[in-house]
Amino acid sequence: MEDKEKILIVDDEEILTDLLTEIIAEMGYQCEIARNGIECLEKFERGQYFDIVLLDIQMPMLNGIETLTKLKTFGLDITIIMVTASRDFEDAKVALKEGAYDYIVKPFKNIEVMTVIKRAVERSRLIKEVKDYQENLEKKVLKQTNQLVSLYADTLEAMVLALDLRECETGYHSYRVTKYALILAKKMGVADSDLAVIAKGALLHDIGKIGIPDNILLKPEKLTEQEMEIMRRHPYYGYKLLKKIKFLEQEAEIVVSHHENYDGTGYPEKISGKEIPLGARIFSIVDTLDAMTTSRSYSQAISFEEAIELINQASARQFDPEVIKAFIKIPKEKWIKARNSIEKADFDYLKNLLYSLNES
Ligand SMILES: [Fe+2]
Ligand SMILES: [Fe+2]
Repeated sequence: MEDKEKILIVDDEEILTDLLTEIIAEMGYQCEIARNGIECLEKFERGQYFDIVLLDIQMPMLNGIETLTKLKTFGLDITIIMVTASRDFEDAKVALKEGAYDYIVKPFKNIEVMTVIKRAVERSRLIKEVKDYQENLEKKVLKQTNQLVSLYADTLEAMVLALDLRECETGYHSYRVTKYALILAKKMGVADSDLAVIAKGALLHDIGKIGIPDNILLKPEKLTEQEMEIMRRHPYYGYKLLKKIKFLEQEAEIVVSHHENYDGTGYPEKISGKEIPLGARIFSIVDTLDAMTTSRSYSQAISFEEAIELINQASARQFDPEVIKAFIKIPKEKWIKARNSIEKADFDYLKNLLYSLNES
């Protein structure tokens, strides 16, 4: 059964409140009484809610108009009916201007009061219906957004996988560095809400390599300076690609900065220190860690122990010393375990992250 409308009577005259209570009860609605404007406001402040308020204009302390003005500041959709003596008809006009819905003139006949209350109830129900409709609409939109997010995530994930497969000798580099970035970010005490951004930035970091021709990307020998120059465009390509997707804007900032060095000798912008987003400062360490510990045609993998030491030596030059401080506290076993755990089952990573982000 639908909830009955709740009505608040605000009046200092007992005879009147008794009469109105009787009428309202007869109509089948619930009602409460407040002896003055302050009592009325206190009820709302305590979180009580009434659909309709019958507000006497002539009251001691806070009069009806003042109470009405204050009630409006709560931003609630209350239907307010002023109760006025015939002599303060001017006040009723002011009240209507201030947002009251209707008024009753004392002395009144029961039937007059009933008619006004009935109309007020209809209005109040209409407001509720509109509100419910809007809320439902919001839920629908959110559901559709989630479907869209999932679709995007699938597409991006396929792109990442395609990239890793194309550069097959790096294996699942993108997935490994995502895991690694999360380990280091957590050690840094990064807030949960930012972890998802860092993880997605890590997963997508080299997405711009899609724009690098095969003969450069897949060249087994060392690249010439000219080829390197083309290769160095990949952070910017990735940025351009992700910037177009509204909910990946923050990740795009990590992607564009993932080859910047702490001392400003990196690329593409040669920014330095804290100018480089924290996510990128964290990421570049784990990217290097994975590159060093993975064999490629032009370089042999070294042990995690050696890699950690070499990275530590590049503190304040290539890497942020603060992040390095956290990095060297992580035992090498943790990295090895994470590396070994990358399996096919992990590949819903991006989708899960996007979902968790959307729900929060
Ligand atoms: Fe890169
Ligand atoms: Fe990388």
